Parts: sequence; structure tokens; C-alpha cells
Amino acid sequence: MSLKGKHIILGICGGIAAYKCASLARLLIKAGAEVQVIMTPAAKEFITPLTMSTLTGKPVISEFFTANTGQWNSHVDLGLWADAMLIAPATASTIGKMANGVADNMLVTTYLSAKSQVFIAPSMDLDMMRHPSTVRNIELLKSYGNIIIEPAEGELASHLIGKGRMEEPENILKVLDYYFTPKDLQGQHFLVTAGPTFEKIDPVRFIGNYSSGKMGYALANEAAARGAEVTIVSGPVDIKGVNPGVKIVKIESARQMLEQCEKIFPAVDCAIMCAAVADYAPVVQHETKIKREKDEIPVIHLMKNPDIAATLGKAKRAGQLLVGFALETDNEDVNAVDKLHRKNLDMIVLNSLKDAGAGFGTDTNKVTIFTSTGRQSQFALKSKTEVAADIVDAIVSLAHES
Ligand code: C5P
Repeated sequence: MSLKGKHIILGICGGIAAYKCASLARLLIKAGAEVQVIMTPAAKEFITPLTMSTLTGKPVISEFFTANTGQWNSHVDLGLWADAMLIAPATASTIGKMANGVADNMLVTTYLSAKSQVFIAPSMDLDMMRHPSTVRNIELLKSYGNIIIEPAEGELASHLIGKGRMEEPENILKVLDYYFTPKDLQGQHFLVTAGPTFEKIDPVRFIGNYSSGKMGYALANEAAARGAEVTIVSGPVDIKGVNPGVKIVKIESARQMLEQCEKIFPAVDCAIMCAAVADYAPVVQHETKIKREKDEIPVIHLMKNPDIAATLGKAKRAGQLLVGFALETDNEDVNAVDKLHRKNLDMIVLNSLKDAGAGFGTDTNKVTIFTSTGRQSQFALKSKTEVAADIVDAIVSLAHES
């Protein structure tokens, strides 16, 4: 996690979305960041300083000095301490003050002193959000180099439906994580296959599998966070939101996946074959729904699907890296290394179905990586996001080896 050890100022304003700051602070702390909360006076009406100081392990700052001790809270020191400042929720009033330098509270004063990147997650009613003054103030903040984490559409506290809901804490964390990830893949192009393939039987039926696409999308997001331009050729999955720099090409069948991969592969530096491609497809795809006959059981004749990884392995040119996956249940290492050579891969990532928490549908994975140069590295059970970082690290080291 790139947020490890990072100093984050979390500036909370007086909006109903302030209740989400408890989860936001927890997520930041879990990711290894140190969090200093600064609240506007109005924010304290929505969430208590006690909640925030307990979660972050640091007293909340709200005033220019602490009344009973007279201790001065230095906005200059705080500004220097921060690796990033995050204002969430950012209300119309604070946005206006920040845009125009109205330093009448600790939060805005610290904002004006901060040398680090500032992220702003607005939250307000839809009419306030689209008022020309808010629009102008947000444009001003963007022109100062601040990053706006756009609010989502949905039901607002007023029960009106529209744009103004503060982005969910998980997504805010992703924006910060992306910002802090070192960009060591700048200028590189990646192709990732992900998800299952659906092989059509008739308009309502298909042959498919349980692949969720989570591992492939995590790899694509990791490579993009590190500066690569990434294309995912994706089977049908239910995943929303990818990092900037990720383009998704949606397909259904193995043949469509192959067609797209053959187009994209010549221009990439690295291709990661993470899709669970169906081994067989029906020979005939019926145009109309196959009827259920009373006494007859229909026979579906199957044909072999193309092996996309092996096809790219044959087309591979010097300097390109091709990475495959092996999902094995027995004789795992031998089968994985055999696949590595048979498909002309440079690296294979083995996950064994024997390991609890590894494989399809889960949020975690446990992998062993084998390279064509004879290296073998085993990793512990981790989240798919962390596994993606390990795999991309291994790709970067292999690229330096060859
Ligand atoms: O042979 P097996 O299906 O076990 O190989 C797994 C690896 O090959 C994975 O990287 C998978 O994405 C890729 N593959 C493929 N096309 C197929 C079958 C597998 O690209 N038809």
C-alpha cells in the first residue's frame, strides 16, 4: 500500500456527509497513514471530535489555540507536516473560503499554508452544487492545482436526487493510493485479459464459469497506478470504476477475446493473461431459443476454443513479456512450469485451489510465481490488490533481468 507512513491532514467541514469520515479515517489508518484531523466549528455538530481523535489516535484540531492551555496550533507546521491534505466533506462555504483566501478558521488557514497536494471531496445539495458561485469556486480550486474528487449522483439528505453525495470512502482512498503509487511504468503499454468468457448456446443460454475478473482488474489498476497505459480485454464481469489510464474492451466469447488481443498485442510491452477462458464453445449458436422437448434431451456439440496465451506466445517479439496464470488442483508446480514452457510465457502465476481463500470469486489470493529464467517466489495469502502489486513488482524485476 502506497499510503504507508504518509502524513494526511483530513479536513472535515460541517455537512451531513461528515458521518462518513469515521470510515474514511479508519481506511486511511488501515492503509498505514498517519491522520491529523482538522474540523471547522460547524463540523463538530455533525461528528464528534472524540470519535475522530479515538480513530486516529491524535487530538483533533479545530481552533487556532487550545483554550485551557493556551497552546498555539501552528497551521504552518501542519502544512509542512502533511504529505497530502484531504478536505472531505468540503461544503460550499469552505470551498468558497478556500477559493478566495478567507482564512477565518484553522482548516482554511492550514489549507493556505499547505505545500502538499490537496484533494477536495465536495458534498452539498444539488442546487448548491450547480450554483454559478460553487461552479466558479471549484474551477478556481482546480486552477490552483487541487484535485477535486467529484461527488456522486444519488439521493441527498434533502431527499432530492442529484449530484452532491460525497464520494464513498473506499473510492476516496483509491484516489489517494493512486496519487502516492510510484510511477515506475510510465511510457509502458500493458494488455490484461480478465474475467470469464461466455460461449453462446442460444439467445438465452451460454457456457461460462465463476471467474469474477477481480484479479485481472486489480492487475490493470496496479499497472495504471504505476503509470502504464493499460487495455483490459474483459469478459462479462460486474466491476465498476477503474484507475485513469485503464481502457476496457468488452467481449463475450474466447474467439472475440482472441481477435481483440491479436490487434492490441503487437503494440504492448507486457501482456497478462488472467482471463478464465472457456475451453470449449458450442459448434452451433442457435438464433432462436432451443425449445424444451417432452422426451428428447438436446445434444450440444462442442469445439475447442483457441488458446489465446499460446497464440500470443507464438507471436511474441523480443522485448515483450507474456505472463500467464495457472489454476491447479494437483501436481501444481510441475503443471505450472509445463504451461510456462508450452505457451512460451515469461512468467506464470500459480494459484492452487487447495489453498483456502485463493482462486475464483474471493477477494484474496495466494500465489507462487515462476519465471522462464528459473526463479520461483512464493507469497502469503493477501488481498488481490496486494497480490497485483507483487505480480507487477515481479514483472518489473524480470524486465530488468532480460
Ligand atoms: O491451459 P490453462 O487454461 O490452464 O492455462 C491458463 C493460462 O492460459 C491463463 O493465463 C489463461 O488466461 C490462458 N488461456 C488462454 N486461452 C485459453 C485458455 C487459457 O489465454 N483458451
